[in-house]
Amino acid sequence: MTLDDVHVAFSPQGLFRRRTAPVRAVRGVSLGVGEAESVGLVGESGCGKSTLGRVAVRLLSPTSGTVSFQGQAIQALPERRMRPLRPGLQMVFQDPYSSLDPSMTVGDSVAEPLRVHERLSGAERRARGREMLHLVGLEERHLDRYPHEFSGGQRQRVALARALILNPQVVVCDEATSAVDVSTQNQILALLRELRHDRGMGFLFISHNLAAVRHVAQRVAVMYLGKVVETGPTARVFAAPAHPYTHMLLTSAPGASRRGAGGATPVGEPPSPVNPPAGCPFQTRCPMVMERCRVEMPAPTPVDGGGEVACHLQTDGPHLAGRPLPETLRAGV
Ligand SMILES: Nc1ncnc2c1ncn2[C@@H]1O[C@H](COP(=O)(O)OP(=O)(O)O)[C@@H](O)[C@H]1O
Ligand SMILES: [Mg+2]
Repeated sequence: MTLDDVHVAFSPQGLFRRRTAPVRAVRGVSLGVGEAESVGLVGESGCGKSTLGRVAVRLLSPTSGTVSFQGQAIQALPERRMRPLRPGLQMVFQDPYSSLDPSMTVGDSVAEPLRVHERLSGAERRARGREMLHLVGLEERHLDRYPHEFSGGQRQRVALARALILNPQVVVCDEATSAVDVSTQNQILALLRELRHDRGMGFLFISHNLAAVRHVAQRVAVMYLGKVVETGPTARVFAAPAHPYTHMLLTSAPGASRRGAGGATPVGEPPSPVNPPAGCPFQTRCPMVMERCRVEMPAPTPVDGGGEVACHLQTDGPHLAGRPLPETLRAGV
């Protein structure tokens, strides 16, 4: 699955639609998830992660740009031609309570995609459902129960089983482990790794939990105000963040021990996506902002150790990657 220069603007609905500007949720993002690859997508709430995830599995059509899957541009495929490709692209959400039908048994919920996409007998569907429940760590006796009889963690396992039953090539996990207890989270992360190794599944792992991303992703993309500001191998991004925003995220994450800055919240707030500033999206919060950042959007530039960063400091100022961070940044967060 490959996204190329994807833009999403939400046009206002209703009474004031002519007087209100659209929300520019995603602004020119290119990102791919390969076979057996797990890509982490991080960034503060509202930066466009879920919107991008929904575009990736064609739950949403982008305003412009292309989404390729299995050699086809799927962003504008009519539903009839999208249908055979749907099983290959699945998404798991944070709140499985809203995505599971409360009036359906868990067994039926998990097997439902089979009914829609494959011709199987009821007995075969049930057998596959059992197999899936087992895979995600639930038991056969759970098949005939209803979602409300389960804990949040168990419901999340059910939602995962439902997403996996069609053996997708790419799964977008949108905060899928954010509301579950630590041991469930660890089991789910271990399962994702297994599915990658054994079945070659690819994952776009969206999370504000950087520890989970670090654990599960081989590559990370950092989003800010609708744009990807940094990408790279997980180890490099965490050890030597090249973008001041990535640095701010890492040092403000709960439990962050790097440079003793754990527990702090990021300084300031991102600007409105209705009216993003010209130039670098991070300019209003960046402790190292330069004149140029106010007018010119920095182009993605390769970083030592892998990946790319969109920051003028990379070409104009002191290089951040692989070096100790400047005092201003260390003190800033
Ligand atoms: N259906 C929608 N209609 C209008 N605005 C939306 C819609 N979905 C998301 N947005 C807006 O788009 C921006 C990005 O949202 P989202 O993709 O949910 O961010 P994230 O998942 O990173 O928190 C936010 O400003 C959000 O309010
Ligand atoms: Mg979201």
